[in-house]
Amino acid sequence: MAFEIVATGRAVPPHRITNDELAKTLDTSDEWIRSHTGIGNRHIADELTATSDLAVAAAREALQMLVDQDKSLGGSVEAAVESLDAIIVATASPDFFGFPSTACLVQDRLGAKKAAAMDVVAGCTGFIYGVETAAGMLSIRQDRKRALVIGAEILSKITDWKDRSTCVLFGDGAGAVIIDKTDAPSSGPGKRGLLRSILGADGSGGDYLIMRRGGTRNPYKQGETLDQPPHIEMNGRAVYNFAVKAVTDTMEQLLKEEGLSVEDLTRIVPHQANARIVQAAAKRLGIPEEKFFLNIEEYANTSAASVPIALDELNRAGGLKKGDLIMTLGFGAGLTYGGNLIVW
Ligand code: ACO
Repeated sequence: MAFEIVATGRAVPPHRITNDELAKTLDTSDEWIRSHTGIGNRHIADELTATSDLAVAAAREALQMLVDQDKSLGGSVEAAVESLDAIIVATASPDFFGFPSTACLVQDRLGAKKAAAMDVVAGCTGFIYGVETAAGMLSIRQDRKRALVIGAEILSKITDWKDRSTCVLFGDGAGAVIIDKTDAPSSGPGKRGLLRSILGADGSGGDYLIMRRGGTRNPYKQGETLDQPPHIEMNGRAVYNFAVKAVTDTMEQLLKEEGLSVEDLTRIVPHQANARIVQAAAKRLGIPEEKFFLNIEEYANTSAASVPIALDELNRAGGLKKGDLIMTLGFGAGLTYGGNLIVW
């Protein structure tokens, strides 16, 4: 039994903001942002757009790709939607905090009547957790065969736009993959799909990336006047140090457990939080930087959406071929970390 990614999609809002545009209203500069993060632009959603809107748009792209490939669907996106057994949305910026889940909103909008639907909340590592969760859901029942896994965020609506140490970093977007349970082997000769995942957490660092208000720890009180909407607070230096270690440790462990070396990897697709984190990890492990796929210059940090957006961009550009060995890597709020090793 194997869990193979058979289609990908992505959606980002059309409105694109450059560093220079940000610097018109904020004490920052294109030079600072590029040299400290590698970010050049970010796509920002308009007032009416919510996370599920981007998630549905990315899902539709992936479903169309599936229909174009899978002739048994007879060219029908509706048939592709009906074939979904599970929908997982990884997000830290849902349409509604608590409930309903963003996945349920997506399930309804797509009309995926038989699909189970749930959100995964694991910060920027959410998509990595989502892929492993989907494989688990498909493996446990024989009649579950196909899952849609989406990473979707509108971080711009939970960002303090006066805080230059966070607001320059984030962008909005969604990426989606469709995972099929197939008869191919997941180990040994001819192995395909998801080979292995590492999922980890260190809750002691929860304070380093946090939205303090609005939950049951610090609820809003009746009559209280809000001086600020709920927003991301981050200890950038602490997250940076955690991220470099998490990325290097996850890479080393995944390769070791699977008996592989870096040379076996076709491409590494890391969470796009800061180009310097990737450069530091590459240096530590002696890996050429070109092995890592980076698109942070265009999209900034889209949290749980960054890995599936990158996968779709690579896939549509012909950068992922059948049999390629891909490693995804994530780290973020929680704190969480993880990676998936996938034969494309
Ligand atoms: N423009 C100009 N100057 C700035 C800006 C800005 N946008 N932001 C901070 N500075 C200033 C600071 O005020 C400070 O000035 P000072 O020396 O006069 O005090 C100086 O730049 C250096 O600040 P540092 O915070 O030390 O800068 P650093 O080199 O650590 O870079 C950064 C900060 C980019 C945030 C880095 O720490 C980082 O990338 N951390 C990881 C963040 C991350 O990966 N988050 C991912 C998870 S997100 C999620 O899960 C939702």
